[in-house]
Amino acid sequence: MQLIDGKETARVIRAELAGRAAAFAEAHGRRIGLAVLLIGDDPASQVYVRNKIKACEETGIRSLAHYLPAATTQAQAEELVRSLAEDDKVDGILIQLPLPAHLDAKKLLALIPTEKDVDGFSPENVGRLALREDCTAACTPLGIMELLRRYHIPTAGKRAVVVGRSNIVGKPMALLLLNADATVTICHSRTQNLKDECLRADILIAAVGKPKFITADMVKEGAVVIDVGMDRDEEGKLCGDVDFASVREKASFLTPVPGGVGPMTIAMLLYNTCAAAERRTAE
Ligand code: GUN
Repeated sequence: MQLIDGKETARVIRAELAGRAAAFAEAHGRRIGLAVLLIGDDPASQVYVRNKIKACEETGIRSLAHYLPAATTQAQAEELVRSLAEDDKVDGILIQLPLPAHLDAKKLLALIPTEKDVDGFSPENVGRLALREDCTAACTPLGIMELLRRYHIPTAGKRAVVVGRSNIVGKPMALLLLNADATVTICHSRTQNLKDECLRADILIAAVGKPKFITADMVKEGAVVIDVGMDRDEEGKLCGDVDFASVREKASFLTPVPGGVGPMTIAMLLYNTCAAAERRTAE
């Protein structure tokens, strides 16, 4: 079994992007700007946002962090997103999800102009992805495609099984794999005979959010297994959706948690931000 090192791959990508960010600053007399909105006090979101901001700074991208209290009203949040949408120095806007329950996430996300949608969540970007047109794709699935590419793992004609159908990971993942000519199955909580579906996978993507959910008996010998989970085991220790200890005996390639998919999500956010800035200023 070969371990897929997302941390090292992300480091290489970030170094590549630092060059692009420096070239942008030289050409335009300002740094690429990413606005990051965190509303409320979800502990996981706080960690993600902190890591995103740190990665921006290390890459030479200016991060404009906006921390709003949980009691922020819809009108206040909308006003901020509108002002960022109009701000010419802001190349990308990221609203960290989930939002507090009283806020309408769909309405807020709709205020982000497609050209600044570095998360790839806008209906237009998702539609373009489905149509296999140029688009910004969601960072986590895009990072997984990049890992497959850099580890020379072919997708064309392969059976890919995506477990999880979220708008953030499962659905865009399935579309990216389909666009890369895989034969794709999406499984979810209502899927019958999940084990049999998973056993058919040449490439198995676990994005369910349940600790150690994918066990060795669900994995075909030699399969490539990608773990998107960020869970806690019974002792409170960080683990993934895949039972690493048993699955490692069967998989040909496997991503660890931490150090697998997670660092790639951030690297691809920086990638999408650089691409958005270059696209906007080229027009
Ligand atoms: N919440 C969990 N993952 C993500 C992500 O990739 N982007 C945003 N904005 N929120 C998230």
